[in-house]
Amino acid sequence: MPDVKYVLNSGSIITEPAEAVKMVKICCIGAGYVGGPTMAVIALKCPDVEVAVVDISVPRINAWNSDQLPIYEPGLDDVVKQCRGKNLFFSTDVEKHVREADIVFVSVNTPTKTRGLGAGKAADLTYWESAARMIADVSVSDKIVVEKSTVPVKTAEAIEKILTHNSKGIKFQILSNPEFLAEGTAIKDLFNPDRVLIGGRETPEGFKAVQTLKDVYAHWVPEGQIITTNLWSAELSKLAANAFLAQRISSVNAMSALCEATGADVTQVSYAVGTDSRIGPKFLNSSVGFGGSCFQKDILNLVYICECNGLPEVAEYWKQVIKINDYQKSRFVNRVVSSMFNSVSNKKIAVLGFAFKKDTGDTRETPAIDVCKGLLEDKAMLSIYDPQVTEDQIQRDLSMNKFDWDHPLHLQPMSPTTVKQVSVTWDAYEATKDAHGICIMTEWDEFKNLDFQKIFDHMQKPAFVFDGRNIMNLQKLREIGFIVYSIGKPLDDWLKDMPAVA
Ligand SMILES: NC(=O)c1ccc[n+]([C@@H]2O[C@H](COP(=O)([O-])OP(=O)(O)OC[C@H]3O[C@@H](n4cnc5c(N)ncnc54)[C@H](O)[C@@H]3O)[C@@H](O)[C@H]2O)c1
Repeated sequence: MPDVKYVLNSGSIITEPAEAVKMVKICCIGAGYVGGPTMAVIALKCPDVEVAVVDISVPRINAWNSDQLPIYEPGLDDVVKQCRGKNLFFSTDVEKHVREADIVFVSVNTPTKTRGLGAGKAADLTYWESAARMIADVSVSDKIVVEKSTVPVKTAEAIEKILTHNSKGIKFQILSNPEFLAEGTAIKDLFNPDRVLIGGRETPEGFKAVQTLKDVYAHWVPEGQIITTNLWSAELSKLAANAFLAQRISSVNAMSALCEATGADVTQVSYAVGTDSRIGPKFLNSSVGFGGSCFQKDILNLVYICECNGLPEVAEYWKQVIKINDYQKSRFVNRVVSSMFNSVSNKKIAVLGFAFKKDTGDTRETPAIDVCKGLLEDKAMLSIYDPQVTEDQIQRDLSMNKFDWDHPLHLQPMSPTTVKQVSVTWDAYEATKDAHGICIMTEWDEFKNLDFQKIFDHMQKPAFVFDGRNIMNLQKLREIGFIVYSIGKPLDDWLKDMPAVA
């Protein structure tokens, strides 16, 4: 077998005999939306690597070991079924698997702090720090520790300190390998990533660690798509990528308000803008606002880092992306209330979709939460239907405090008080029966194929549809008799005559 060569940036080459390069064992701490799918795909693509995914949450691990996986992602079941029990294991024995691993990924929660210094902005690294201390405690051999969670830039330095101060002579190399998958298309994204990013120390040991991780991804990702950088660039690139993506959504959403005021159609505007090859068509769909566990959290984190580095203008610039997102949600609520004679008190409003986007059951920071809370504030009666979200989850989301969702399950409030004006159904027709209005909050494909004549026949009149995702055939709905509002589209006369909204 030929020797293995590592080329350093300086141009010098380190050579190791092939037999010294043994098979790697991987452990991932955190069996969530990132840890579960990424490790399942590594196990599938690297049959010669043993992958253990560990978590402190017993129900989560039990679910990963059952037929009902804890998260819904198209294609995930199939990947897990192919590898589970062969080279993919889910376990709560965190210490054992960390001790045995050569590479430890850390993919735990990094919530927004709710108290103390940096509250409402800074990342709370409690879970990361406790994982790092545990790694230092239980390790008996050298390890590569990989940041998979999204963390503030320079976290690796802090983690390195924790590991080396407690290490009993064991050597740790820290790598940053942020995850760019999108929920709903996670398996597709993991099979075919635009790029894999690996940041490491620019030392011989650092380069060697980067190469080891690169070899894992090289099982299926073309070499040209594996980017290597220094640690800080990798950490910051993840925050920057999410900020850029969210910024595009806020940009088109800001335009949607102007479209409504002027009679322009946001779909036509974004198409015309997106055909410019310098801009491109993706992420230009106007909607009720972005959601998901990452965008807001990562931008707040970026804002905090800018402030800490004495860059208030830069912080202010990125803050605006979140402000527009909040504005878009409250604008939607105001539109619903003002259209319905300025009151939704005791009126039944059907909410179709609760997940933050289609093809996922994830409700973290979904715009549906703020819209529902806004309508409840005006005393509406809500009837909610989402094909993938349970009643329990919806009730928890509507009664939980901001940012509380981003903690391990057993640390979240156990029995939230049920919101009485909210009912949850498992059928869109049931949800819309006798309703005064319908709010479309998620772009599930099945909503496009509903029998809207049947729905109209069973609703109170005038019957309203408020399309927060621009997925409906407005012409058809108008012909049936609905009064229709769709974000950024020319307004019905009815809506034009209603009081102006913020
Ligand atoms: N969800 C996404 O689309 C996405 C994409 C890219 C990056 N990220 C980032 O990845 C990280 C994880 O996100 P997620 O969506 O998978 O979160 P998640 O809440 O679904 O999963 C995190 C898991 O970590 C476990 N955990 C926490 N502390 C632990 C500990 N000390 N030991 C063992 N297990 C522990 C929790 O029980 C939980 O199951 C976050 O930093 C997030 O910002 C998320």
